[in-house]
This record gives sequence, C-alpha cells and structure tokens, in this order.
Amino acid sequence: MEREDSKSTPSETVNDNSRNSKRDFLSKIFITFGVVFAYGLLAFEGLFFIIPKKRKTDKIKIYGGRLKQYKLGTVRAFYDLQGNEILIMRNDESGLGESGLRAFSSVCPHLGCRVHWEGDKNEFFCPCHKGIFNSEGVAISGPPADANQSLKKVSVEVDEKSQIVYIEVDKPGRRTG
Ligand code: FES
Repeated sequence: MEREDSKSTPSETVNDNSRNSKRDFLSKIFITFGVVFAYGLLAFEGLFFIIPKKRKTDKIKIYGGRLKQYKLGTVRAFYDLQGNEILIMRNDESGLGESGLRAFSSVCPHLGCRVHWEGDKNEFFCPCHKGIFNSEGVAISGPPADANQSLKKVSVEVDEKSQIVYIEVDKPGRRTG
C-alpha cells in the first residue's frame, strides 16, 4: 500500500501563503471601508446636529372675509383653528397697508378674561377688572395699564387685487395666548 505524504510540497506552501496574504489584504480593505463609512456617517450626523434644521413655518393664513365687510371703526370677530377669538378692526378708509386693519387676540393679558370692543368709546373693555385698551391694543386703564400690558397682536393682511382679508394664525396643535 502506498503511504500518503502529510508534508506539503513547496508549491503548496507558496499557494497557502498567497491565499493568506489575499485574505489579509481583503480584510484590511473591508475594515478600512467600514471605518471610513462609520466616521463619515458620524461626521454627517454631527453636521446636522450643528447646523440648525430649516424651521418649518408653524403659521397658516385663514380667510378673514372681504375688506368691504369691515366698516370703519367697527370690529369683527373671528376664531383661529384652536377656537381663540380674534378681533379685527378697520382702522382707516383704505383698509390697506400696515395700519389699514388691526387684529388682536381677545384674551386680556391681565388674567385672561375676554375683552370686547366698545365702538362709542373707541376702546376695548375687559369686564373682569375694568381693564381698558385703546384702539392700538395698549392698556390705558385698570390693572393691565398698571402692568404696562397690551392685547396680543395678530397678523392680518389684505390682498389688494382680490380685496380678501387673510389672518395669520398658528397651525393646529399649537396654542395661542
Ligand atoms: S382680566 Fe382683564 S382686567 Fe383683569
């Protein structure tokens, strides 16, 4: 019977060494790529952490009727998407521009009661503690005046072409004062 030789020939040793060095080389490539990928990902995440994300606007414009529905010196009431009352008054004949319409939250800044418009006196009145606000929403009498408070302004604009009034309010899910 012929005896099997357990010793490897020189050509087999060379092949083994060559296979091992290929395996080592591939492992090093994989490890290098893994490390580069991990650091890259880390740097990318870090960049997003450092650079503030672009803020999504949390406001929305709602329909506030047509300008002709606003009579000079009178106030119309609307409700935002959370049910908060907004009082809008026409301030001048044009009704346009910064001062054309003024809009305020009806919440009294003193203790949160509701103010209402008293057209004959040209002022907002809060019945809870007799707080009085002028047509610009600035407190002129009562506890809110003592505390230098004002009604919270609400953004309102008129599209000149269509004469439609838009009220800027918080999107649902956010609270207004
Ligand atoms: S809550 Fe309006 S004056 Fe006090």
